[in-house]
Amino acid sequence: MNIAIVGASGAVGQELLRLLQERNFPYQSLRLFGSSRSAGSTYTVRGEELTVQELREGDDFAGIDLAFVSAGAGTSLRFAETITKHGAIMIDNSSAFRMEKDVPLVVPEVNASAALHRPRNIIANPNCTTIQMVVALKAINDVSRIRRVHVATYQSASGAGASGMEELETQVKQCAAGEELTVQKFAHQLLYNVIPHIDVFTDNGYTKEEMKMYNETRKIMDSDIEVSATCVRVPTLRAHSEAIWVELERPLSTQEAREAFAAAEGITLIDNPANNEYPMPLYLSGKDDVYVGRVRQDLANPHGLSFWCVSDQIRKGAALNAIQIAEYLYRQA
Ligand SMILES: NC(=O)c1ccc[n+]([C@@H]2O[C@H](COP(=O)([O-])OP(=O)(O)OC[C@H]3O[C@@H](n4cnc5c(N)ncnc54)[C@H](OP(=O)(O)O)[C@@H]3O)[C@@H](O)[C@H]2O)c1
Repeated sequence: MNIAIVGASGAVGQELLRLLQERNFPYQSLRLFGSSRSAGSTYTVRGEELTVQELREGDDFAGIDLAFVSAGAGTSLRFAETITKHGAIMIDNSSAFRMEKDVPLVVPEVNASAALHRPRNIIANPNCTTIQMVVALKAINDVSRIRRVHVATYQSASGAGASGMEELETQVKQCAAGEELTVQKFAHQLLYNVIPHIDVFTDNGYTKEEMKMYNETRKIMDSDIEVSATCVRVPTLRAHSEAIWVELERPLSTQEAREAFAAAEGITLIDNPANNEYPMPLYLSGKDDVYVGRVRQDLANPHGLSFWCVSDQIRKGAALNAIQIAEYLYRQA
C-alpha cells in the first residue's frame, strides 16, 4: 500500500507515525502532509527521512491507496475531494463526515465490516470518548441488551490537540514561577481545575462533544440505545476516563459482567479494589487497550451496572483505531 498522513505534525499524526513503525504496518511508501506551518519539516520513519508537504488542491494523491487524515473538520471537508478523487480511501479522524449516511463510522471491535461499504471512499473514525465507551458497551451488550447509558467523562488536555497539552504544561511551569497563567486553548485555567465544557454548547444545553456520544454510539452500535453524557476536561495530560452507568434488559451479576469484559477483544480488566487496583490515566497513557474496572451493581437501579473505563484517546481514541481499520481492510483485500 502507498499511504499518506495528513496532519503529520499533530498529536494524532505523531502517534500514527509511532504506530506504523511499532506495528510494522505493511506500506510501500509513506507521504506526509500538513499546512504551510509544518510544510518542509522532516520526520524519520523506519530509517527514512520524510518531508512534510503542504496540502493543496490538485493531484498529489494520485497513486496513494490510503490516507489517514487528522487535521480538523474544516480541512477534511475542504480536501476530501482532492484526497479521494484518484481512488484513495480516506480514514478521517475529524467530525466532518461521521454522521453522513453514506460514510461508515467504524470501531473494529464493534462493527469492522461496516468499513467495507464506503460509497464515497471515506471511513470516519468516531470521537475519542465514544470509541472507548462503545468497546466497553459491546462486551456487555453481547450478554444483555443495553437500554440506556449515563456517562460522565474526565478528558485529558491532549484531547484538544498538541497545543492543549502544551497549555497545561506551560501553566504548571508558570504557576511554579509565580507568573500569570496563559489561558488560550480552554475556556478557563485548567491547572487545579475541572471544566464541564468540551466543544461548543448546543440549543438543548448539551455540548457538541456530549451530543457526539449520543449520536455516534447509536450509529456504531446500530441501535436505539439512549445516551446521556456530561463531558468534562480535567488536568491530566493524556488518556480519557469515563464513569459509565448502563441499564440492561436482563440484570447481570458483577461476576458475569467481569467475565464479559475479561473475554472481550480490546479490553483489559483491572478490578481489584482490595489492592487499590483500578484503571488510571497516568499509568495507561501509551497503551493500546480500553481498561475497565470498578465493576459494581448500580444501587439506584436493579437493572443497572456501573463501571469505570480508561483509554489513551490519542491511541485507541484516534490513531490506533484508524490503523486497526486499515489493517482490517488489508486482511480483507
Ligand atoms: N487529540 C485527540 O485526542 C484526538 C482524538 C480523536 C480525534 N482527534 C481529531 O484528530 C484531528 C487532529 O487532532 P490533533 O489532536 O492531532 O490536533 P493538533 O495536534 O492540533 O494537530 C493538527 C494537525 O492538523 C494539521 N492541519 C491543520 N490545518 C491544516 C490544513 N489546512 N492543511 C493541512 N494540515 C492542517 C496541522 O498541521 P500544521 O502543524 O502544519 O498546522 C497538524 O498537523 C482533529 O480533527 C481532532 O478532532 C483528536
